Amino acid sequence: MTIRFVPIKTVLIVLTAATLAGCATQPTTLKEAYKNDFLIGVAVNQKQFSGEDRRGDPIIKAQFNSISPENALKWDATEPEPGVFDFTNADKYVAFGESNHMVIVGHTLVWNHQTPRSVFQDTNGNPVTREVLLQRMHDHIQTVVGRYKGRIKDWDVVNEALKDNGELRPSPWEKIIGPDYIEKAFQYAHEADPDAELNYNDYSLENQEKRDGAIALIKKLKADGIPINAVGLQGHLKMAWPTVAEEDATISDFAKLGVKVMITEFDIDVVRATQGNRTADIEANARLVDGANTYSNGLPANVQQALADRYAELMGVYLKHRDVVERVTFWGVTDGDSWLNTPGRMNHPLLFDRQGQAKPAFDAVLKAARKPAGN
Ligand code: XIL
Repeated sequence: MTIRFVPIKTVLIVLTAATLAGCATQPTTLKEAYKNDFLIGVAVNQKQFSGEDRRGDPIIKAQFNSISPENALKWDATEPEPGVFDFTNADKYVAFGESNHMVIVGHTLVWNHQTPRSVFQDTNGNPVTREVLLQRMHDHIQTVVGRYKGRIKDWDVVNEALKDNGELRPSPWEKIIGPDYIEKAFQYAHEADPDAELNYNDYSLENQEKRDGAIALIKKLKADGIPINAVGLQGHLKMAWPTVAEEDATISDFAKLGVKVMITEFDIDVVRATQGNRTADIEANARLVDGANTYSNGLPANVQQALADRYAELMGVYLKHRDVVERVTFWGVTDGDSWLNTPGRMNHPLLFDRQGQAKPAFDAVLKAARKPAGN
């Protein structure tokens, strides 16, 4: 019997090559892990698109292939006074997306928040007429969407038009123009950029009453020939709400209408005091401050793990619906960036901690992509 002598160096080379080959099949970034499923987006703030956030910058560039403007494209930012436009930040935002080859999202054209009061008033402070407000809406959409025609690929045209019970929210838009303000907004956006994808965006559509309202709204828009491509589920979720079954049913219900689904503002609130608050209304969110600061020294390991598991189960639902889900966008880069932090309340809702370190939730989201989707 002959004993073959294999030099130790050869053994090491073979082992190293095998390990590297193994790693190469396991993506280490979110955009890579989900590249055959949907886009992975992130909301960016002014510091980030201006290149002033050294902690966030490498994370954004490595992990995401789509961006949303946290505030830079809202009405108060782009048209602070009727007819006076300011595209300083919006231009930087779009340039940032282009230089990083990302799919650039527009958020948002018609909303009741972050819209100056002067939009709805004449110079004497009296409410404007339907005709005047329609003209202002038209000019705003034409100017903003037109400016980024062909560059911003998908627009949240109307944001949060429904109340929790599914009825139309009595916003100044609805009160002055009437319920058809929604279709007008979509028509104006389509005229300004016929190739852009146009979305209706809202929160808590997982709740049956509100979901029914959105379904009726979308059915009506489609029946009237209004160009709507997708529904945006904001995805401001809690640890136990919605259930996996509710999230699953919500996506199925919208898919049946022939629209795509986007998860547009994903985050998971971990603070105990706000768990029961099943709404992402920014006024309600701001009210619940007292006593809500439960994890000011960071998340205990068991809560970190629970958050990771929660992210994994929800990503599982989105993967299951990868034929209709086009994009999953996280509403912020690190926990420190999140809108869920308010004075006196520190939240931990995202995938990266305040130091920019990946949390167990990040690993869980990455790992979820490797699992075959359920049925
Ligand atoms: C939030 C931003 O994150 C905050 O910076 C801002 O102060 C308020 O708005 N639903 C939406 C988003 O559609 O535009 C909101 O963003 C969060 C709730």
